[in-house]
Amino acid sequence: MGDRAPAPSRILVIDDEPGNVRLLERFLTDAGYHDVQSTTDPRQALALYQTFQPDLILLDLMMPYLDGVAVIQTLAIPENVYLPVLVLTADVTLEARQRALAAGAKDFLTKPFDRLEVLLRIKNLLDTRRLYLELDRHNRSLEQTVEERTQQFLRSEKLATMGSLLAGVAHELNNPLAVLMGQTHLMREVVQDGALRARADQISAAAERCARIVRNFLALARQQPPERHRLVLNEVVREAVELLAYELRTDNVEVVLDLAEGLPILWGDAHQLHQVVVNLVANAHQAMRGSTVRRIRLATRFDRERTRVRLEIADTGPGIPPDIQAKIFEPFFTTKPPGHGTGLGLSLCQGIVEEHGGTITVVSGAGAGAVFHIEFPLPAPAPPGPPTPAAGAPVSSALPPIGAKAILVVDDEVEIAGVLAEALERLGHHVEVASGGGRALELLTQRAYDLVISDTKMPGVDGVALYGEIARRFPVLRERVVFLTGDVLDPEKRAFIERTGAPFLTKPFDVQEVRRVVHQVLARDAPSAPRQ
Ligand SMILES: Nc1ncnc2c1ncn2[C@@H]1O[C@H](COP(=O)(O)OP(=O)(O)OP(=O)(O)O)[C@@H](O)[C@H]1O
Ligand SMILES: [Mg+2]
Repeated sequence: MGDRAPAPSRILVIDDEPGNVRLLERFLTDAGYHDVQSTTDPRQALALYQTFQPDLILLDLMMPYLDGVAVIQTLAIPENVYLPVLVLTADVTLEARQRALAAGAKDFLTKPFDRLEVLLRIKNLLDTRRLYLELDRHNRSLEQTVEERTQQFLRSEKLATMGSLLAGVAHELNNPLAVLMGQTHLMREVVQDGALRARADQISAAAERCARIVRNFLALARQQPPERHRLVLNEVVREAVELLAYELRTDNVEVVLDLAEGLPILWGDAHQLHQVVVNLVANAHQAMRGSTVRRIRLATRFDRERTRVRLEIADTGPGIPPDIQAKIFEPFFTTKPPGHGTGLGLSLCQGIVEEHGGTITVVSGAGAGAVFHIEFPLPAPAPPGPPTPAAGAPVSSALPPIGAKAILVVDDEVEIAGVLAEALERLGHHVEVASGGGRALELLTQRAYDLVISDTKMPGVDGVALYGEIARRFPVLRERVVFLTGDVLDPEKRAFIERTGAPFLTKPFDVQEVRRVVHQVLARDAPSAPRQ
C-alpha cells in the first residue's frame, strides 16, 4: 500500500493491553488514519461505539470483564449495516475463530502484528465498507426514484380515469354552454341599462370560465399528441388575447402585446398552444383581482443564438411564493378556493409545451408579479407549405361593411342554430335555419345562399355528407362553408375538414369569432352566388 492519505475513516480500537493499543495507534497514525479512538476497558465499548460511530472496530478477543465475542454481542450491530469488526487475537485455536466469526467478526489478525498485514486488512475492510455505503446510497436513490415514478404514474392514471369520466360530462356541457355564451353576448349587445349589462357580463365571464374548465378536462383526458402544422406564434397569441379581451377589459386589465416582427414559423398544434396562452392569461387575470395596477404583458422573441422562439407572459399580480413555485405545475395543485380552480391549467400547459419539445418555467419575486417563460425549438427541416392558421383564420377584428348576405345555418340543436342566426341577422344578413343536412339540401335547391355554416355531427345527413353534396351540386358554395365542430372530433373527420380547407369553429364558440370567420369567408374574392 502506498503512502497516499486514505479517506478519513473513524477507527475504534478495543484492547485491554495498553501496549497493543499504543502500537496499533502508531501504525494507524503513520498510515494517515488520524481519526482513531481507543479503550482498554471493554465495558466502555458500547458507549464509545455509540458516540464515535466508527467505520471499523479493531477488537481484542481475550479481555477481562467482557471478552471480544461478548463485546460484539453488546454492540448489536444491525445486519443491514456493514460495520466491519477485525478481531485481534493471540489465541489461534479454531474454536476461538469460529466463535468470533459466528458473533459477526469479519476478519482476524494474529498477534504479534505484522504492520503491513494490519494496514492491508484495515484498508481492505474500509474499502469494502465504502463500497457498501455507496451501493446503499445508490439503492436508496433508486428506491426514491421508483417511488417518485410510481406516484407520478398513479397520478397520471388517476388523471386519465377521472379525465375520461369527466370528458363525457364535459362534452355534454358544450352545447348548453354555447347557448349560454351566445345568448349572453347577444343580450349584452342590446341591453342599455348599465346594471343589467353588468349582470350579463358576470354571466358571460362565468360561462367563459366553464368553457375553459371543460376544454382543459377534455384536453387532459384526450392527451393527444399535437397535430402539427406550420404556425406563427404571434397569431396564436393575438387570437387567444382577443378571445379574452372582453373579460379583461371589463376588469380594467391592460394588455400589452410586444410581439417581435419576423418570428420564424413554428411546427405545432395551434389549438393546443392557444389553450396554453388562454390558461396563462386567465391565471394572470385571476391573480390580479386584488391589485391596483393590472397589466399583462405578452412578449415574443426569437433567440437567434439558441434557435428558439420565446414567449413571455408577465403580470402585475402578487407573484408566486417561492415555496409553491415547484408545485404549481402539478395536476390538481391550486391555491384557489373550491369552485374557483381545478389546478389543471398549468399542468396542461406544461404537458402541451413539453409535447412540443419546449419548456415552461416561472420567475416570480415576492410582490413583483409572475413571469412565465416558454421556449419552443425551431422545426428541424422546414416543412413545406404555408402556415396553417388556427380555427378561424386571422381576421381583423373590425368588420368592414360587406352588405346583406343570405346565410344558411345547419344544426340539429335548435337553440344553437337560434343563437347563430340571431348573431348574424344583427349584422344585417338574411339567415335561414335547417335542422339537418337533408333539410339544408332542400333549402339549397329553393334559393341561393352566400354561405353555409354547418354542424358536423348531425343525425341523417351529417356535415361531411352535406359538404359532399354541396361540392357536387352547388360547387360555387364549396369555398363558402364554415364548419361547427364538437370538441371530440374523430381524426377522420378532422382530416376531412382540413382537406376541404373550410374554416371550422369549435363549440362552445365565441359569437364574435363566428362573425369574424363568416365575414372573412364572405369577403373573399369569389364570384357572387348565382341566383337560381
Ligand atoms: N400568474 C400567477 N400569479 C400568481 N399565482 C399563480 C399565477 N399562475 C398560477 N398561479 C398559482 O398556481 C396555481 C396553479 O395554477 P393552475 O392554472 O394550474 O390552476 P388554477 O388556476 O388554480 O385552476 P384552473 O386553472 O384549473 O382553473 C394557482 O392556484 C395559483 O396559486
Ligand atoms: Mg389556472
